[in-house]
Amino acid sequence: MKLSSAAKKEVNNVMASGWLSTGSRVADFEKQLSRILNVPYVAALSSGTAALHLALESTGDFKEAEIITTPFTFVATVEAIMLAGSKIVLADIDSETLNISAEDAARKITKKTKAIVAVDIAGNPADYSAIRKLCRDHSLKLISDSAHALGTKYKNKTMPELADVSAYSFYPTKNVTTAEGGAVASKNKKLIEKVRLLSSHGLTSNAYQRQKTGGWGYDVPVFGYKANLSDIHAALGIGELKNFEKNQRKRTMLAKRYLANLSHLSDSLRLPPVATDIQHSWHLFIIQLNLDSLKIDRNRFIAELSKLGVQCGVHYQPVFELSFYRQALKLKASDFPNAAKAGKSVVSLPLHTLLKISDIDFVCECLAAILGRNRH
Ligand SMILES: Cc1ncc(COP(=O)(O)O)c(C=O)c1O
Repeated sequence: MKLSSAAKKEVNNVMASGWLSTGSRVADFEKQLSRILNVPYVAALSSGTAALHLALESTGDFKEAEIITTPFTFVATVEAIMLAGSKIVLADIDSETLNISAEDAARKITKKTKAIVAVDIAGNPADYSAIRKLCRDHSLKLISDSAHALGTKYKNKTMPELADVSAYSFYPTKNVTTAEGGAVASKNKKLIEKVRLLSSHGLTSNAYQRQKTGGWGYDVPVFGYKANLSDIHAALGIGELKNFEKNQRKRTMLAKRYLANLSHLSDSLRLPPVATDIQHSWHLFIIQLNLDSLKIDRNRFIAELSKLGVQCGVHYQPVFELSFYRQALKLKASDFPNAAKAGKSVVSLPLHTLLKISDIDFVCECLAAILGRNRH
């Protein structure tokens, strides 16, 4: 991760200002996010995990309730549901989009279900038409884990325009970073006010507000947490946002090059789907290997690419493969056949803004050569 000069300048200004933690720069960062997401209320927090946790805590009373989500996600999604005191219920995914299957989610609804957490894997939006209908029909809240989806739109709408509330992450690998950080975004003012309250121990006014007004008193009307973002982190985000549009165009251009270069390999791999009515943030470029057509498994494929200097990742090992959750929730891979298959066949190809078109072409040549010599 290479920081932009704009980000370094913004951070240096905060360092020199004498006010390091939550203050005016966090407020500025929130305003900019609010413009990008086209919703009026945004609370910037210390991580995407905290954002999802407090989004859940602020959307309803979900203690002991069942919340349906996908097993094909980063562990933070289920961790946040557990932190909220809710029961995690997993639904299988759609094998093409890798996002939660609305049909399987419908089968998992019981009298105890109170919400669905949709995840926009890789920056490809979940099936919001179907999931919103499900939530409407069963009076469920819709929370989006949009950690990958800054820059994503579904039918011209951002995720917080479609869901009750959305959580974003600004971890260094994300399309915009604050080093560590996250945000909750919503159309609902009260919900975001609650997130703010919970994120700072439940204090009715934080240090910045007290310093501005010259008062010293506060109350703590609710049990709270410590999840505020510092001005240093927010300044970094403000600097990075200056290049956001340009970086998104670059990601899209690189992803299109992958799609064009790899289209002739459809017998050996499945490319990420690109619906015409979505805007993809291209956080990740995930291919799925057709393992039946190959003599090697996914891990060997990644090792072969690594030997040629191409470093790939795996997003994700499904939740039922992680020992704590497998045991705690008594999960069996066979209950989620699509996620189980994806978990063994997905490969995330390199995708970041320092790459050039020639790098993408090189990755594709290496990939084609490995597939060529390992076909049945
Ligand atoms: C899908 C998903 N949800 C939540 C998170 C948590 O974000 P953070 O690392 O900022 O806590 C991540 C982070 O990678 C993620 O990928």
